[in-house]
Order: sequence, then structure tokens, then C-alpha cells
Amino acid sequence: MAMANPNPIFSHLWKFTTSLLFLFFLASTSHPRHAYAAPIIRRQGDAITALSTTEIAAFRPFTNYASSAYCPAAKLRTWSCGRNCLANPAFQPVAAGGDGNDIQFWFVGIDPTLKTVVVAHQGTDPKKIMPILTDIDFILDELDPKLFPGLPKGIKVHNGFGKAHAETSSDVLAAVKSALSQSGLNQVTVVGHSLGGAIALLNGVFLPLNLPDVSVRTVTYGMPRVGNKAFAKYVDANVSIDRVVNREDIVPILPGRFLGFRHPGGEKHIQDDLSWVLCPGGDNTDKWCSVGDARNVFDASVKDHSGPYDTITMGC
Ligand SMILES: *[C@@H]1O[C@H](CO)[C@@H](O)[C@H](O)[C@H]1NC(C)=O
Repeated sequence: MAMANPNPIFSHLWKFTTSLLFLFFLASTSHPRHAYAAPIIRRQGDAITALSTTEIAAFRPFTNYASSAYCPAAKLRTWSCGRNCLANPAFQPVAAGGDGNDIQFWFVGIDPTLKTVVVAHQGTDPKKIMPILTDIDFILDELDPKLFPGLPKGIKVHNGFGKAHAETSSDVLAAVKSALSQSGLNQVTVVGHSLGGAIALLNGVFLPLNLPDVSVRTVTYGMPRVGNKAFAKYVDANVSIDRVVNREDIVPILPGRFLGFRHPGGEKHIQDDLSWVLCPGGDNTDKWCSVGDARNVFDASVKDHSGPYDTITMGC
């Protein structure tokens, strides 16, 4: 992907990265890296359980859709984006947009095999997302009530993610309506990796508020923390989410909980041996789960961000 002219959201390059790294340093404890086999651990009804091979394989179409969103809109419109598009050969594109620069690429279409409308947004490479996640200039901000009618008070999200979502929300909503009526389906699946995962989760909240009779599922990969505790609570009550996190990826542990950010539940954490486990709760601190595994910047890694997610590495 071309990397010229970074998104304005990403413009405060590295300004406060060093000071945040220092905060992480202060907060860190010595925590050896580990390699372990798939666990089946049960405690107090809160089970960390291994996913079966079949359950892991069921994510593959969505992983390929999230990866396809890194391709230019012109190729997505004709579903001619190479290996990513070939991996979902029955897909029927309905609309695509973005410029891969100021606005993330996105597409909407119909998967007649999985019987769902698919919405995907492009992510960012780690060099671009790290500055947003560590930039102290961001604020936790309320979502636009015109886009998110009737959200309970107190819900706040990272304003960079809210802005990135708002940029495509009306085009996406129109395309989803068109795809639903063309296909006669009643199911929408929103996917994305990295920043695209954050936009997907915001669509997971946005679409049901605007299409109340439609069933919406959210699948994200390497998603950073998107909002505050009230946001995570709302997602837990109202959004069906699978949140896949690869090994010690640093992005999902940012922005830090000490800044007020919280994850919703739905974590599927890929272990060092490439098995997947389901981690109950939002920021599960167990060592089998993302927050416990990538506990500080010394353990966490940028290289795990792009994958592989069950053999699929994100990118066009
Ligand atoms: C979200 O979930 C809560 C708790 O179940 C429910 O009261 C509320 O109506 C839901 N909101 C929407 C928009 O569905």
C-alpha cells in the first residue's frame, strides 16, 4: 500500500510517543515471554476455552474480507483484487470507496454462501496507527447523536476513530440498504483490521441504530481500544462481536486503560503455538489473553499486528 501523505488523523506524528513509552516503562513489571500449548482452563464459570479447528476455520472468509479492504476501491468495485478477492469468489460487490489515504478504503457487498451482507474497512500499518494510539492530543468524545440516535449518555470514543467512521457512514449505510434489498438478506457482517476494526465496531453500533430490524455481527482483527467503559458496556449488551488478537500484538493494548479506555468482550486470542482461545470479559488479564500476554511494551510487539491470522496476513 502506498504510504505517502498520511491521514490527517495521523498527523501528530510521534509527538508524545516517547513520554507514553516512559509511562509504560514505569508501569511495567518483569514478565518473561512464554510459549505454551492450548489451554482448557476453567474458573468460577469464567472459562478460557480453546477453539476447535472448525471454529477457527469459520473466521477465514471474514479474515480475507478484512484483508481485501487494503486494496484500492476500483479493484474492490469489480472484485478483482487478487488473492484476497479470489479467497471469497462468490462475493457480489455493491459499492466501494475511500482513497486509501485521507479516507480508508471500504466496500459493501453480498456473500451468498454465508448469506450475509459484508461491510469492510481498510486498516493501517503499525507505523500509522501507533501515532494515533499514543498521541495525547486525542480526546474521548461523544458520538454524533445524528448518526447514533438514542445512545445512552456517558458513552465516549477516541475522536480519531469517531471521525474516521463518520467520513464513510452515510455512503456505507446507503450501500448496506441497497445490498439488503438486492439480496433479500437480513444479516450484515462488519469486519476490519486495526483502524478498520475500530471503524467496524463503530459500524456494529451504528448500523443497528439505523436499521433496527437487521441482525449485525462484528468481526475485528488487531483492534485497538475504541472507547470508554460505558462504550464497552453498551457493546457487551447490544453488539455481537468477535475480536481476534494475534499473540503479543501491541495495538490491542492501546490506548492504555489508565487513559480510561476499555475493550468489550468477544476476544479470540491467538497463542504462540497458533491455537486460538476464547477469553471471557473485556480486558482479561489472564496470561492466555491479549492484555495478560502483551502486558507492556517490552513484551508487546508491532510485528504481530499484521498476522498471520490463521495463515492470512493482512494487506493487499
Ligand atoms: C442495549 O441493551 C440494553 C440492555 O439489554 C437494552 O436495554 C437496550 O434497549 C439496548 N439498546 C438498543 C439500541 O438495542
